[in-house]
Amino acid sequence: MAPPRPAEPVEAPVLAVLHAAAFPPEERWGESAIRLMLGLEGAFGLVVEGAAGPAGFILARAVAGEAEILTIAVDPSAQRGGLGATLLGAALAEVARRGASVLFLEVSERNAPARALYARTGAEPVGRRRRYYPDGSDALVLRITPPSG
Ligand SMILES: CC(C)(COP(=O)(O)OP(=O)(O)OC[C@H]1O[C@@H](n2cnc3c(N)ncnc32)[C@H](O)[C@@H]1OP(=O)(O)O)[C@@H](O)C(=O)NCCC(=O)NCCS
Repeated sequence: MAPPRPAEPVEAPVLAVLHAAAFPPEERWGESAIRLMLGLEGAFGLVVEGAAGPAGFILARAVAGEAEILTIAVDPSAQRGGLGATLLGAALAEVARRGASVLFLEVSERNAPARALYARTGAEPVGRRRRYYPDGSDALVLRITPPSG
Protein backbone atom coordinates (compact mmCIF):
# COMPACT_ATOMS: atom_id res chain seq x y z
CA MET A 1 0.00 0.00 0.00
CA ALA A 2 1.34 3.42 -0.95
CA PRO A 3 1.44 5.87 1.97
CA PRO A 4 -1.39 8.40 2.20
CA ARG A 5 -0.93 11.51 0.08
CA PRO A 6 -2.51 14.97 0.42
CA ALA A 7 -6.01 15.43 -1.01
CA GLU A 8 -6.52 18.30 -3.44
CA PRO A 9 -9.76 20.35 -3.62
CA VAL A 10 -10.01 19.43 -7.31
CA GLU A 11 -10.54 15.82 -6.21
CA ALA A 12 -13.78 16.69 -4.39
CA PRO A 13 -16.02 14.92 -6.98
CA VAL A 14 -14.25 11.57 -6.69
CA LEU A 15 -14.02 11.87 -2.90
CA ALA A 16 -17.78 12.57 -2.78
CA VAL A 17 -18.41 9.32 -4.68
CA LEU A 18 -16.24 7.47 -2.19
CA HIS A 19 -18.03 9.12 0.74
CA ALA A 20 -21.41 8.13 -0.72
CA ALA A 21 -20.27 4.51 -1.01
CA ALA A 22 -19.19 4.41 2.64
CA PHE A 23 -22.02 6.35 4.38
CA PRO A 24 -25.81 5.99 4.45
CA PRO A 25 -27.66 8.49 2.22
CA GLU A 26 -28.55 10.94 5.01
CA GLU A 27 -24.90 11.26 6.10
CA ARG A 28 -23.29 11.68 2.70
CA TRP A 29 -21.24 14.74 1.89
CA GLY A 30 -21.47 16.13 -1.62
CA GLU A 31 -18.51 17.54 -3.50
CA SER A 32 -19.25 21.12 -2.44
CA ALA A 33 -19.25 20.11 1.24
CA ILE A 34 -15.92 18.33 0.78
CA ARG A 35 -14.43 21.32 -1.04
CA LEU A 36 -15.73 23.60 1.72
CA MET A 37 -14.20 21.41 4.44
CA LEU A 38 -10.85 21.31 2.67
CA GLY A 39 -10.91 25.11 2.57
CA LEU A 40 -11.44 25.59 6.33
CA GLU A 41 -8.64 27.13 8.30
CA GLY A 42 -6.14 24.42 9.24
CA ALA A 43 -7.92 21.69 7.28
CA PHE A 44 -6.24 19.00 5.24
CA GLY A 45 -7.12 15.72 3.58
CA LEU A 46 -5.22 12.49 3.06
CA VAL A 47 -5.99 9.86 0.43
CA VAL A 48 -4.97 6.24 0.04
CA GLU A 49 -4.96 4.89 -3.48
CA GLY A 50 -6.43 1.55 -4.49
CA ALA A 51 -6.05 -0.25 -7.79
CA ALA A 52 -8.73 1.91 -9.45
CA GLY A 53 -8.26 5.29 -7.78
CA PRO A 54 -8.82 6.59 -4.25
CA ALA A 55 -9.92 3.80 -1.90
CA GLY A 56 -10.14 5.86 1.27
CA PHE A 57 -9.68 9.35 2.63
CA ILE A 58 -9.69 11.32 5.83
CA LEU A 59 -10.37 15.03 6.38
CA ALA A 60 -9.06 16.66 9.55
CA ARG A 61 -8.12 20.07 10.85
CA ALA A 62 -5.76 21.47 13.42
CA VAL A 63 -6.21 24.97 14.81
CA ALA A 64 -4.63 26.58 17.87
CA GLY A 65 -3.27 23.35 19.29
CA GLU A 66 -6.51 21.36 18.95
CA ALA A 67 -7.45 19.01 16.15
CA GLU A 68 -10.57 17.23 14.93
CA ILE A 69 -11.44 14.49 12.47
CA LEU A 70 -14.04 15.86 10.04
CA THR A 71 -14.69 12.58 8.26
CA ILE A 72 -13.06 9.28 7.35
CA ALA A 73 -14.30 6.91 4.66
CA VAL A 74 -12.99 3.69 3.15
CA ASP A 75 -14.66 2.16 0.12
CA PRO A 76 -16.69 -0.87 1.26
CA SER A 77 -14.75 -3.12 -1.14
CA ALA A 78 -11.50 -2.14 0.61
CA GLN A 79 -12.69 -2.13 4.23
CA ARG A 80 -11.02 -4.29 6.85
CA GLY A 81 -7.74 -4.11 4.93
CA GLY A 82 -5.96 -1.66 7.20
CA LEU A 83 -6.65 1.52 5.19
CA GLY A 84 -8.72 3.18 7.92
CA ALA A 85 -6.03 2.60 10.52
CA THR A 86 -3.37 3.87 8.11
CA LEU A 87 -5.35 7.04 7.36
CA LEU A 88 -6.06 7.71 11.03
CA GLY A 89 -2.41 7.18 11.96
CA ALA A 90 -1.24 9.50 9.20
CA ALA A 91 -3.75 12.18 10.20
CA LEU A 92 -2.66 11.96 13.84
CA ALA A 93 0.96 12.38 12.79
CA GLU A 94 0.04 15.37 10.61
CA VAL A 95 -1.95 17.17 13.33
CA ALA A 96 0.96 16.59 15.72
CA ARG A 97 3.31 18.07 13.12
CA ARG A 98 0.95 21.06 13.00
CA GLY A 99 1.22 21.52 16.75
CA ALA A 100 -1.98 19.87 18.02
CA SER A 101 -1.69 18.17 21.40
CA VAL A 102 -5.25 16.83 21.46
CA LEU A 103 -7.73 15.61 18.87
CA PHE A 104 -11.50 15.29 19.24
CA LEU A 105 -13.97 13.43 17.08
CA GLU A 106 -17.58 12.36 17.08
CA VAL A 107 -18.80 8.87 16.30
CA SER A 108 -22.26 7.37 16.36
CA GLU A 109 -22.73 5.03 19.27
CA ARG A 110 -24.15 2.59 16.69
CA ASN A 111 -21.02 2.66 14.49
CA ALA A 112 -19.20 -0.42 15.80
CA PRO A 113 -16.47 -0.53 13.11
CA ALA A 114 -15.45 3.11 13.65
CA ARG A 115 -15.66 2.79 17.43
CA ALA A 116 -13.36 -0.24 17.28
CA LEU A 117 -10.93 1.62 15.04
CA TYR A 118 -10.78 4.61 17.39
CA ALA A 119 -10.61 2.47 20.53
CA ARG A 120 -7.51 0.69 19.34
CA THR A 121 -5.94 4.10 18.66
CA GLY A 122 -6.36 5.01 22.31
CA ALA A 123 -9.53 7.10 22.02
CA GLU A 124 -11.22 7.96 25.31
CA PRO A 125 -14.88 9.00 25.65
CA VAL A 126 -15.25 12.56 26.93
CA GLY A 127 -18.87 13.41 26.11
CA ARG A 128 -22.11 12.55 24.38
CA ARG A 129 -24.34 14.56 22.06
CA ARG A 130 -27.90 13.27 22.26
CA ARG A 131 -29.68 12.40 18.98
CA TYR A 132 -26.88 13.99 16.99
CA TYR A 133 -27.21 11.86 13.84
CA PRO A 134 -30.08 11.73 11.33
CA ASP A 135 -30.95 8.17 12.44
CA GLY A 136 -31.50 9.47 15.99
CA SER A 137 -28.37 7.92 17.45
CA ASP A 138 -26.21 9.71 19.99
CA ALA A 139 -22.73 10.90 19.11
CA LEU A 140 -19.94 9.90 21.42
CA VAL A 141 -17.27 12.57 21.69
CA LEU A 142 -13.86 10.93 21.81
CA ARG A 143 -10.42 12.32 22.58
CA ILE A 144 -7.16 11.01 21.15
CA THR A 145 -3.71 12.24 22.12
CA PRO A 146 -1.64 12.51 18.92
CA PRO A 147 1.94 11.27 19.02
CA SER A 148 4.22 13.99 20.36
CA GLY A 149 5.28 15.94 17.31
C1 LIG B 1 -14.62 3.06 9.96
C2 LIG B 1 -13.82 2.74 8.68
C3 LIG B 1 -13.19 4.03 8.16
C4 LIG B 1 -12.72 1.72 9.03
O1 LIG B 1 -11.93 1.54 7.87
P1 LIG B 1 -11.21 0.13 7.54
O2 LIG B 1 -10.22 0.36 6.47
O3 LIG B 1 -12.24 -0.91 7.30
O4 LIG B 1 -10.49 -0.16 8.93
P2 LIG B 1 -9.18 -1.06 9.16
O5 LIG B 1 -9.19 -2.24 8.22
O6 LIG B 1 -7.98 -0.20 9.16
O7 LIG B 1 -9.48 -1.60 10.62
C5 LIG B 1 -8.69 -1.18 11.74
C6 LIG B 1 -9.34 -1.74 13.00
O8 LIG B 1 -10.61 -1.14 13.19
C7 LIG B 1 -11.50 -2.12 13.73
N1 LIG B 1 -12.55 -2.42 12.75
C8 LIG B 1 -12.65 -1.95 11.48
N2 LIG B 1 -13.77 -2.42 10.89
C9 LIG B 1 -14.38 -3.20 11.81
C10 LIG B 1 -15.58 -3.96 11.79
N3 LIG B 1 -16.38 -4.01 10.71
N4 LIG B 1 -15.92 -4.62 12.91
C11 LIG B 1 -15.15 -4.59 14.02
N5 LIG B 1 -13.98 -3.89 14.09
C12 LIG B 1 -13.62 -3.20 12.99
C13 LIG B 1 -10.67 -3.35 14.01
O9 LIG B 1 -10.09 -3.20 15.31
C14 LIG B 1 -9.61 -3.21 12.96
O10 LIG B 1 -8.44 -3.92 13.23
P3 LIG B 1 -8.30 -5.45 12.78
O11 LIG B 1 -8.75 -5.54 11.35
O12 LIG B 1 -6.84 -5.73 12.97
O13 LIG B 1 -9.20 -6.23 13.70
C15 LIG B 1 -14.74 2.09 7.60
O14 LIG B 1 -15.45 1.02 8.20
C16 LIG B 1 -15.72 3.05 6.97
O15 LIG B 1 -15.40 3.76 6.00
N6 LIG B 1 -16.96 3.08 7.50
C17 LIG B 1 -18.03 3.91 6.92
C18 LIG B 1 -17.80 5.37 7.21
C19 LIG B 1 -17.69 5.65 8.72
O16 LIG B 1 -18.45 5.14 9.50
N7 LIG B 1 -16.72 6.52 9.09
C20 LIG B 1 -16.49 6.89 10.47
C21 LIG B 1 -17.40 7.99 10.88
S1 LIG B 1 -17.02 8.54 12.54
